Amino acid sequence: MLVLGVESSCDETAAAVVRDGETILSNVISSQVEIHRPYGGVVPELASRHHIRNITVVISQALEQANVELADLSGLAVTRGPGLVGALLVGIQTAKALALVSGLPLVGINHLEGHLNAPGLAAEALLPPERHVALLVSGGHTALILVEGFGNYRLLGASRDDAAGEAFDKVAKLLGLGYPGGPAIERLAQSGDPEAIRFPRALAQRDELDFSFSGLKTAVANHVRRHGSPTGQEVNHLCASFQQAVCDVLVRKACRAVKLRRVRALVAGGGVLANGAVRGALEQAAAEQGFSVHVPPVALCTDNAAMIAAAGARRLARGERDGLDMNAEPRLRLS
Ligand code: KG4
Ligand code: ZN
Repeated sequence: MLVLGVESSCDETAAAVVRDGETILSNVISSQVEIHRPYGGVVPELASRHHIRNITVVISQALEQANVELADLSGLAVTRGPGLVGALLVGIQTAKALALVSGLPLVGINHLEGHLNAPGLAAEALLPPERHVALLVSGGHTALILVEGFGNYRLLGASRDDAAGEAFDKVAKLLGLGYPGGPAIERLAQSGDPEAIRFPRALAQRDELDFSFSGLKTAVANHVRRHGSPTGQEVNHLCASFQQAVCDVLVRKACRAVKLRRVRALVAGGGVLANGAVRGALEQAAAEQGFSVHVPPVALCTDNAAMIAAAGARRLARGERDGLDMNAEPRLRLS
């Protein structure tokens, strides 16, 4: 089964061809990061405009690199939410046009379900057992989800304010490190002391699975106000201490969810899982506490269309279809 996936929920225009829901034949991503960098965050209208400019080229490249034509495909999958409405509409409308001209079945996919399916695309066997907990951490989401099988999800906890990636981006902006913040903070943190500054770990009560990162961001802002803009090694210490605070909270809550729900595996994904410290801390905690951790390679943690095609293959195989009246669902929920 060959599925073309299309993803345009935020600032990556992406298309991919995946065989049998697990083998990537092509995975093309056109990042808009340079477009949004001067603004310190994604500007929704600019995102839509760049998607509409690039999407046909990206799809053509995905088909060409996979060495297939539309007629060779078994179906089409497109992100229908959550995300920026104008950005989503571009991908959805393009996928609908392809469905109309080709007659191929079309299915709309929840972007978060895409992230949940990314481990199955890794070259090494990363497939988790059916029942597991998932930790999704990106610029728009921080959530712990109990997965009881494909399509069967229960939200265990989520951020009450900023997503973790958003906190990375806002702290980086505060420190003048540019956008996106995660990679810049991670780079500087490598030369800093994670114990240099004690930042708060919010909602630390034992069974609390919700997150809160806005207090952490404010704590960093207060530190800068009190001590002045950091320079040299101080910046590295601040980045390392901030990253450690995020890392501690993510790992502690993920471990708690695994224990409370009595599962033996954790899937983790989303842009923040590109962070080596977060990946390492999760892997260490999993080894210590006796559960397996399934984190896709960095390129499959951040937004891509292969994960949408993988989830699409599973839904199409179950006979699920969406009509040409499919609409964008900016606040689509998983459960
Ligand atoms: O999943 P993603 O690519 O897009 C969304 O759906 O949001 O995640 C983007 C987020 C951004 O907030 C970015 O700062 C963060 O992931 N990120 C990182 C790293 N790379 C990207 N955060 C921490 N460390 C990184 N290395
Ligand atoms: Zn994402």
